[in-house]
Amino acid sequence: MINEQVVRDALQSVLHPKLGKSLLDVGMIRDIIIKESAVTVTLALKSATSPLRKLFTAEIEKVVGALPEVVSVEVEVKVLSPEEYGQMFPQAPLKGIAEVNHFLAVASGKGGVGKTTIAVNIALALAGQGYAVGLLDADVYGPSIPVMLDLSHAMEQENDMILPREKYGLRIMSLGMTAGETDAFIWRGPLVSKMIRQLLDRVKWGTLDYLVIDLPPGTGDPSITIAQSLPQCSILMVTTPQEVALADVRRSISLFKKIGQKIIGLVENMSFFLCGHSSERIDIFGSGGGERLSRETNIPLLGSIPLDLLIGQGGDNGVPLLVSAPDSSTGRVFQEIARKISDQLG
Ligand SMILES: Nc1ncnc2c1ncn2[C@@H]1O[C@H](COP(=O)(O)OP(=O)(O)OP(=O)(O)O)[C@@H](O)[C@H]1O
Ligand SMILES: [Mg+2]
Repeated sequence: MINEQVVRDALQSVLHPKLGKSLLDVGMIRDIIIKESAVTVTLALKSATSPLRKLFTAEIEKVVGALPEVVSVEVEVKVLSPEEYGQMFPQAPLKGIAEVNHFLAVASGKGGVGKTTIAVNIALALAGQGYAVGLLDADVYGPSIPVMLDLSHAMEQENDMILPREKYGLRIMSLGMTAGETDAFIWRGPLVSKMIRQLLDRVKWGTLDYLVIDLPPGTGDPSITIAQSLPQCSILMVTTPQEVALADVRRSISLFKKIGQKIIGLVENMSFFLCGHSSERIDIFGSGGGERLSRETNIPLLGSIPLDLLIGQGGDNGVPLLVSAPDSSTGRVFQEIARKISDQLG
């Protein structure tokens, strides 16, 4: 007669190759359901595309299928949330960020919508409110913070920790500071993950109220690594008013939600053009997209940033708007967004 215990005994021989323990002992076997001679086993994995899925499934089918009376074996996969995964496989705490209070990652569904511009200026606005702020460039594929802040490549170390660079009152770290700006970063998943964890672990961020993180577009490996390493991280979503950007941002919002990330707000960038001397607003890319998205997703729209020539100039000459013109009308929009963020996070 098959029963759960018989199946459990058989599953003891299915080992996790890296941990050398059985999947049962690690907690990766969840439910075992037996209906007459059909057995369904639920296997918990970090992701549905885990490279170990095939191996584990084949092993489970083999050992359970070999039991007398078992006619069919089905393996169902349950994807673990970052919290569940973290509890099952506690990782050594990341030293560099031990004293960081809040994490704020700036994300978008699409490239070129102004994430880096917003990360830099929001970091500066938070610093302007008196907070201790760090800025991490997690865009490992195309780090642009060194250019936007005109930082050279020199890096200093103290014992085994890398010191962040200080500029405009921010503590800053970017992989672009470790390599030539023109180097192409073509890294595969596991290496990207390792690199980002190093930027959290080996950089001496010190005591910070906020660490602002500039993410590459979409929900690729860097975003997933941040989600897994910092489950408490808040996401600020950047979009432009066009429908295409909105479709991308919708997809990105649902993916971030799926991996358990909290999205604290939307920022609409390049919303309108403030025409020179008159105060007329010109909605170049259509209007109301950010508001519509906010109503639809229930995520607050924290602000709309106009197309402003000063932003583009600042991006090119290494002096961001919040340094060159903090009290300009666009500068005040950034300050208002930063205030809403600090009101929410404390
Ligand atoms: N509101 C704005 N007004 C004028 N120029 C802007 C504005 N926002 C961003 N830009 C300019 O647009 C360009 C792209 O911005 P940015 O690099 O911040 O985008 P991104 O989303 O970080 O891009 P990527 O996906 O490549 O990382 C930059 O040259 C920047 O100066
Ligand atoms: Mg960028």
